[in-house]
Amino acid sequence: MASAQPFVLRWGIISTGRIASCFVKDALVDPKTRDVHDVVHKITAVGSRSVAKADEFIAEFAGGDKSIKGYGSYTEVFADKNVDAVYIGTPHTFHYDNALEAIKAKKHVLCEKPVTCNGAELRSLLAAAKEHGVFFMEALWTRFQPLTKEVKKLAESGVLGDPVALQADLSGDFGINNLPKSHRILDPALGGGALLDLGPYPLIWAILALYEHPSNNGANPSDISGTMLKTPLTGVDRSTSYTVTFSPTSSSDKNTLSAQAIMSCNINAQAYQTGVIIRYERGTITIPAPIFCPKSFTVQYLNGKGTVAKEETRKFEYVGSGWHFQADEVARCVRDGKAESELWGHNKSLLEMDIFDEVRRQGGYKFPPGVEKVV
Ligand SMILES: NC(=O)c1ccc[n+]([C@@H]2O[C@H](COP(=O)([O-])OP(=O)(O)OC[C@H]3O[C@@H](n4cnc5c(N)ncnc54)[C@H](OP(=O)(O)O)[C@@H]3O)[C@@H](O)[C@H]2O)c1
Repeated sequence: MASAQPFVLRWGIISTGRIASCFVKDALVDPKTRDVHDVVHKITAVGSRSVAKADEFIAEFAGGDKSIKGYGSYTEVFADKNVDAVYIGTPHTFHYDNALEAIKAKKHVLCEKPVTCNGAELRSLLAAAKEHGVFFMEALWTRFQPLTKEVKKLAESGVLGDPVALQADLSGDFGINNLPKSHRILDPALGGGALLDLGPYPLIWAILALYEHPSNNGANPSDISGTMLKTPLTGVDRSTSYTVTFSPTSSSDKNTLSAQAIMSCNINAQAYQTGVIIRYERGTITIPAPIFCPKSFTVQYLNGKGTVAKEETRKFEYVGSGWHFQADEVARCVRDGKAESELWGHNKSLLEMDIFDEVRRQGGYKFPPGVEKVV
């Protein structure tokens, strides 16, 4: 019996930066290598501020495929009838404008993290996506990787009990003393600093393990706190520590979870092991760095006295670098006419941006005037 043809999603790529190249390389990996048979990805257009850069990008990362149109503007990609969905890989502070233009052109959108600069921008984009009837998702690729799905399954199986505490860090040494101050990681006008760039990754584990846990019953955090250490180079946060607490605030609350996530991120230190530690009533899950794309996790089952009764490590391998799983999710959602993903839906991006707004407020990090398009 002949099998059904896979659904083909036609992508337009917005910008030719580092992460756009990672996305395109992975999107072009044959989905069958990861046992995906229902969707495939086709790149049909690449937009850059320079047509020469777009053409170079196609030559280098898409095998010089002559069927891919290189454009010297993003607007031309949004107008291209052969594009169903766009991937936005510009610096944070352009996400709002780029995504809004795409949405108004009725393109489905996958937008890099952090999805916007603040919660107000995201609310405005979500309203626009609803109005124009398009799918919209933040590119939090970690959430779609097979390892992450397995951690969630284990965490919610009940075998470990409820989560109690989580610690997570993502650091990276960007060599900030040798970077131009106009680099996106340092420039406040580009949303520079640790929180917006690295902060989504510790948080995604907290959202998965605590916010998504059935005992939390979808409740928002009862407390958010944060502190920032700024670099004198440009005033952006060099490191940020933030905690998010989930706890019922009254005895009639349907959420019964009492747990706290302690997170940190840093742009001038190497990542350290262990990246994520999730402690449950009867066990611990540890996830090694890099926490945005870990290749293994370990679970320790504790006996009644708190000693380790059993330990298991699970390893994950696939062809490609892990960005293709989010592309598969977008393709399936678009095929099925969904407005958002069930794995990383709008509510989770909103929670992320609201937490970041609060941490920036407490940390005293204000963007220069005009950076936030909606406040
Ligand atoms: N998912 C992940 O693992 C991951 C990893 C790193 C970064 N990111 C996210 O992806 C986004 C881009 O990061 P990146 O490291 O790829 O940055 P990048 O290498 O600097 O690329 C950004 C691209 O945006 C375009 N752009 C438009 N206006 C710009 C401006 N005024 N200044 C600089 N670039 C401009 C440029 O492309 P054209 O010249 O072609 O227009 C540039 O190549 C950020 O939001 C970041 O948080 C995600």
